Amino acid sequence: MQNKKRLILHYYKVNLGIALGAIITIHSYKGGTGKTCVAISLAEMLAMKGKRVCLVDLDFHAPNIGFAFDIEKADLSINDYLNVGCEVNDILFDLTDRYGYDGRLLIAPADPSIEAIRDMSAKDRKWYMRALGRLLALRNSLLEEQGLDYLIFDASSGIGYSSINAVVTADIELLVNNMDTVQIEGAKRMIEELYDLFEKKIGLLLNKVPIKGRSLTEVEAQVTVECESLYNLPVLGVIPYFYEILETGVSSSFLKENPTHLFTKILEEIAVRVDSFSFGSLVVRKDSELMKIYKEQFIKKVTGVRM
Ligand SMILES: Nc1ncnc2c1ncn2[C@@H]1O[C@H](COP(=O)(O)OP(=O)(O)OP(=O)(O)O)[C@@H](O)[C@H]1O
Ligand SMILES: [Mg+2]
Repeated sequence: MQNKKRLILHYYKVNLGIALGAIITIHSYKGGTGKTCVAISLAEMLAMKGKRVCLVDLDFHAPNIGFAFDIEKADLSINDYLNVGCEVNDILFDLTDRYGYDGRLLIAPADPSIEAIRDMSAKDRKWYMRALGRLLALRNSLLEEQGLDYLIFDASSGIGYSSINAVVTADIELLVNNMDTVQIEGAKRMIEELYDLFEKKIGLLLNKVPIKGRSLTEVEAQVTVECESLYNLPVLGVIPYFYEILETGVSSSFLKENPTHLFTKILEEIAVRVDSFSFGSLVVRKDSELMKIYKEQFIKKVTGVRM
């Protein structure tokens, strides 16, 4: 019944020209900000909430997605798809039944072998131009034909060809930032010189945010106000630094095994915001009293004007 309804909806969307799904690229200026961690958790959370999602590993220098989901080395990978060595259906793993998601979760791992990493490092601009065509074709094959709601790209950091391809293909860029100043400057430049050039919809996710004995609400209000005015972009989520995540890393079982963990709760809120950000305007956040106080303090600090 559920599938029948979905098919009817899909048919009407196609015929009315309504957006069929969205491509989200998880990106950052610097490495190690938590992109893969966020990509895995967001893909899983959306699948747990009934969405149909495909998570694609586009970090060819340090592929991680296959490991995170305990996938044995596959014969074919996204590398082969981009090399025009196979079709996309040949590289997908459907994990829906294994993990019992309400929606659907497919993953497209990259090849983690040393030879493959070396091979991808040696690719030139011409190869990446062709690969861009293959990535763009995923919209048609996965979002339109298979009716998926989301393609999530786990990109590599910086502005190499591979990252640019992921940024260009996406409808939405989720920029995962930590709070250090070197990164803030780099990320600002990347937004101005890359994202704005392609007129992308961008949201910020602040990760590994130090709480230092304060309440999460207080820290969230403060960093949200600061980052929204610094980048002039909406903050879709603030994730604290969790020692247990550093210790174990986020793998496929984390959210399901830790349903009451603060990380899981925060991811749940982020998934809702990302969903409304992708298919409409961001749900207007009602500022808390604390947020209002921080906004006033911030404006006073920057302009000297008391509101
Ligand atoms: N909120 C968090 N709290 C503590 N540790 C975190 C958090 N998020 C991610 N980490 C840890 O930080 C490290 C880097 O995370 P991750 O691999 O997701 O980053 P990345 O941006 O994908 O890195 P790369 O640029 O190398 O691809 C991992 O050890 C991960 O477990
Ligand atoms: Mg990564």
